[in-house]
Amino acid sequence: MLKIKDLVKTYGKFVAVNNLNLEIPQGEIYGFVGPNGAGKTTTMKIISGLLTATSGEVMVDNVDVTRNSRKIKESIGYMPDFFGVYDDLKVTEYLDFYASIYKIKEKERKKITDDLLELVDLSNKRESYVDSLSRGMKQRLCLARSLIHNPKLLILDEPASGLDPRARVEMKEILRNLKDMGKTILISSHILSELAELCTHIGIIDNGKMVISGSVSEIMQQVYSSRVIKLKVNDKLEQAEMVLKEFPNIDKITLGENTIQAGFEGSDQDMSRILATLVTRGIPVVTFSQLDGNLEDVFMKVTRGGEVQ
Ligand SMILES: Nc1ncnc2c1ncn2[C@@H]1O[C@H](COP(=O)(O)OP(=O)(O)OP(=O)(O)O)[C@@H](O)[C@H]1O
Ligand SMILES: [Mg+2]
Repeated sequence: MLKIKDLVKTYGKFVAVNNLNLEIPQGEIYGFVGPNGAGKTTTMKIISGLLTATSGEVMVDNVDVTRNSRKIKESIGYMPDFFGVYDDLKVTEYLDFYASIYKIKEKERKKITDDLLELVDLSNKRESYVDSLSRGMKQRLCLARSLIHNPKLLILDEPASGLDPRARVEMKEILRNLKDMGKTILISSHILSELAELCTHIGIIDNGKMVISGSVSEIMQQVYSSRVIKLKVNDKLEQAEMVLKEFPNIDKITLGENTIQAGFEGSDQDMSRILATLVTRGIPVVTFSQLDGNLEDVFMKVTRGGEVQ
């Protein structure tokens, strides 16, 4: 549905997007993750036809965005990361206004507006002024606006930022519904773990470059290929260390008072084998666990060159 090839965007000498490649199959939710200034918004604006690329190719549904920017806008719904002023409009008037921009006929507008308000759970606010809505409600309204012309591809720039935990859950629910309706979705965030449960694919961008991309399970595998295990013993700390050293997939062993921490590459089965060996060798193991080598660690590692702890 979306194919980006060797995309470059420069501002003067500054390279904001650096040879970016990205592909989203029809019906998938792609999580676009990166720190501030990584180039997410820039990329999304280029896809949506709001910015022109310096070079590279963006194809939406096999149509070149740069050459057909008007036509492509019919296929894309873009939700910006920041919302403008609303000029004393009521919720329904606001959506009606956007529907008119897309030249949707007057008699169809009411049904579309009603359906969208229902989808984003704002039906009870239809007569409220947009300015009086809470931030979370404004965000949902903005999402409804991006859907008004029934686009196939949704480009959502941090739709969950600034939302409270409950509103985040609701936003995810709406996005899942949209996926079920067959939409293809590109969604950006700083928070990798939040996207992991929603998305089918993840791409991590830093300094305008894609540093890792793949299916969520592929990314998870990267996480678990560098786990950290922590072990607490009652006694025999040194013997425990000797046992651990026998395993080729264990490294970076550090000893505490009665604890050992070690880097480890392997599966759950490998981990249970290590524990079994320790126990059969008579090491009095009190606890044996994996430190949270979570997605955020991978994010830090790949975006800032840090180590997974
Ligand atoms: N109009 C512009 N002129 C010059 N530099 C710009 C312009 N717009 C963006 N940039 C730079 O391009 C880089 C990428 O910005 P972008 O907004 O795409 O990042 P982002 O990943 O969306 O970040 P955030 O998470 O903060 O939203 C930043 O370093 C930014 O300063
Ligand atoms: Mg941004």
